[in-house]
Amino acid sequence: MPRTSKTPRTHRKAAGSPSSGSAQPANLLATVALSAFVATDPLSLKLIETARRVASTGSIVLIHGESGTGKDLLASLIHYLGPSPQEPLVKIDCASLPHDLLESELFGFERGAFTGANQMKRGRFELAGYGTLVLDGIASLSLAMQAKLLRVIEDRTFDRLGGTKPIRVSARIIALTNVDLAAAVAARAFREDLFFRLNVVPLEVPPLRERAADVGVIATHLLTQISETHSRPQLRLAPEARMALTAYSFPGNVRELRNILERSVVTLPASQSQITLDDLPRNVRNASAGPRSKQTLEELERDYIAEILDHTRGKKSKAADILGITRKTLLEKRKKYGL
Ligand SMILES: Nc1ncnc2c1ncn2[C@@H]1O[C@H](COP(=O)(O)OP(=O)(O)O)[C@@H](O)[C@H]1O
Ligand SMILES: [Mg+2]
Repeated sequence: MPRTSKTPRTHRKAAGSPSSGSAQPANLLATVALSAFVATDPLSLKLIETARRVASTGSIVLIHGESGTGKDLLASLIHYLGPSPQEPLVKIDCASLPHDLLESELFGFERGAFTGANQMKRGRFELAGYGTLVLDGIASLSLAMQAKLLRVIEDRTFDRLGGTKPIRVSARIIALTNVDLAAAVAARAFREDLFFRLNVVPLEVPPLRERAADVGVIATHLLTQISETHSRPQLRLAPEARMALTAYSFPGNVRELRNILERSVVTLPASQSQITLDDLPRNVRNASAGPRSKQTLEELERDYIAEILDHTRGKKSKAADILGITRKTLLEKRKKYGL
């Protein structure tokens, strides 16, 4: 059986049980955050373990990954697994705010700092207190703002705009980016010194297509949420639909998976509680090798192994992990099927 049929319980056990060799989540918030981050692929389980180790250190974290891979979710997980889960978790999207607005949002301002500043306002650095400040879209900061942020990180203090009393930064900083910051540094679009300051603990969230084993369990999790939102009985994925999704490349990652499922549910007749291959968009259907029910078990095995090898871009150990067989068995099967 493909291991993609595992339930999210796998991850909770692997990431949270004493048998995994790490401590139990110390609090309810951590447990909830862990259950929101659904994973069963070895790549993701490893990422969660790293996040767990990093969380307790309180150090700056830089999370890189394609859009929709779960960077925001991972940042929350680190916060809730960290030493101060009850403290504020504050996020700001640096990409969506123009320079001046971003500055006043981040640092706040004193009354009278500029026209219209009728009363003092605290910025996100202050609001984050002893918790976590998540800076999303860090690569889109202007060079001037990069310089300012670097100073704040180095001094651990800042002034509100128009203020004279330095305020201490106690929050942990987590920066998110879907841009390769090292390349941005090479292109002189990003300050090298700030990059080094942020790059203390770099975490890479792999694209969904590189962790094929996650697709089924995340889809099931999302379907539970979507069923609730649309007040429908628990919706399920037919095996061929699940296979097709697992074979699909998801350029938009988990966000795209959610959109695909939402769309399928909206057009699903009320009498139907299962999403079949036909209910999926054409591009997803095309990614699958066609109806599997007409195949022999051997053909099914061959195609599935080929699919997983494709997903792992030929990385055999990883493919063997996902398939739940040893590397040696995988090599034998490749030979047998001429893959
Ligand atoms: N491992 C996962 N388990 C469950 N939901 C996920 C997972 N990864 C991402 N998601 C969901 O996918 C969407 C996109 O995730 P997000 O963290 O916003 O991605 P990013 O910040 O990388 O663009 C969100 O709705 C998020 O809850
Ligand atoms: Mg995001």
